Amino acid sequence: MKIIRAKDYKDMSRKAANIISAQVIMKPNAVLGLATGSSPVGTYAQLIDWYNKGDIDFSEVTTINLDEYRGLPREHDQSYWYFMHKNFFDSVNVQPDRIHVPNGSNPDAAEACREYDAIIQRAGGIDLQLLGIGHDGHIGFNEPGAAFELGTHCVDLTKETIEANKRFFNNDESLVPRQAYTMGIKTIMQARKVLMVASGADKAEIIKKAFFGPVTPEVPASILQMHPDFVLVGDQAALSLV
Ligand code: GLP
Repeated sequence: MKIIRAKDYKDMSRKAANIISAQVIMKPNAVLGLATGSSPVGTYAQLIDWYNKGDIDFSEVTTINLDEYRGLPREHDQSYWYFMHKNFFDSVNVQPDRIHVPNGSNPDAAEACREYDAIIQRAGGIDLQLLGIGHDGHIGFNEPGAAFELGTHCVDLTKETIEANKRFFNNDESLVPRQAYTMGIKTIMQARKVLMVASGADKAEIIKKAFFGPVTPEVPASILQMHPDFVLVGDQAALSLV
């Protein structure tokens, strides 16, 4: 585990983007596992900036997103498909047929998850997985208690996650989907490199618990302590307790 201290959100985003950029330069057809949430948005913005300057090319890259709400069509402005296009894909040259997000509009959970695992396998696994972290230590949508040995599966979101995400749904909890399809921890752990971005004082407590506490399914991110190539880039506020 390597911890990189950044000054602030902008610095964290630039450092994370540098690591992703190095991956794509070293392996132009890299498979990037991507994440939603506010933490990686600055990283995407930095990558877009370098793409516009001609410093990075995504034409051969494959992307595989972590998760998607079950029941939201792609076009819904709170779907992760939509989020990723708005914040990244629409502004760079990732080929549309190499973009993968779990199919939230497939009501058949077993089929949607099986198909997603097959996509990851066909791609040859993930070279670099980008992650944020939830306040309860979730990664993707692997909530506390999630088994470490699962591939893509359907999860019930916890009250805390629904509460944290309602800000995107007119602050109305009843509009937040109750379930999601998420890449499992087994798949995340199989990624050859894992890069987490964490920002803000509200993440300080969970960062300490996840990376300086015991490895336990009650804190899903804690398993990353065992990953052979895990890098955490955090800003001063998020790393203030470690
Ligand atoms: C959501 C996503 C996670 C993300 C988390 C934290 O629940 N499924 O992938 O890490 O939110 O989001 P934020 O970065 O906005 O704090």
